[in-house]
Amino acid sequence: MAHLRSIFAACLGLTLLSFPAPAQEMPLALALSCAACHGTDGKSPGAIPTIDGRSAKEMKEALAGFKNGTRPATVMNRLAKGYTDQEIDALADYFSKIK
Ligand code: HEC
Repeated sequence: MAHLRSIFAACLGLTLLSFPAPAQEMPLALALSCAACHGTDGKSPGAIPTIDGRSAKEMKEALAGFKNGTRPATVMNRLAKGYTDQEIDALADYFSKIK
């Protein structure tokens, strides 16, 4: 049985290896979940703040503040906790580059 488990582990490893997350596409996929509230490409049509065209630094500070609870929020505090620091960096870079 032990060898079966290692074959399984090897397959799992291969599966993970064969789908490397492309660096440029990952932020875009993550950003889709922001579009529901902030609008496509962060251009909000309603009361929720527009988030495109800010500096990556500003976005990172906002998201980090939401995540650690220092920035007052109604929903972003809970949302930000669902993203790793790496994902927050990627999102900040992505939105800062939108024209
Ligand atoms: C469920 C709706 C919702 C989703 C999804 C959402 N946001 Fe927000 N966002 C808000 C609201 C509402 C605010 C205003 C602060 C608050 O009350 O939480 C906000 C505020 C922000 C701010 C600060 C803007 C400012 O001017 O202070 C940033 C940056 C931000 N969101 C980024 C994101 C990113 C990046 C995502 C995707 C990972 C995202 N948001 C997903 C609703 C949402």
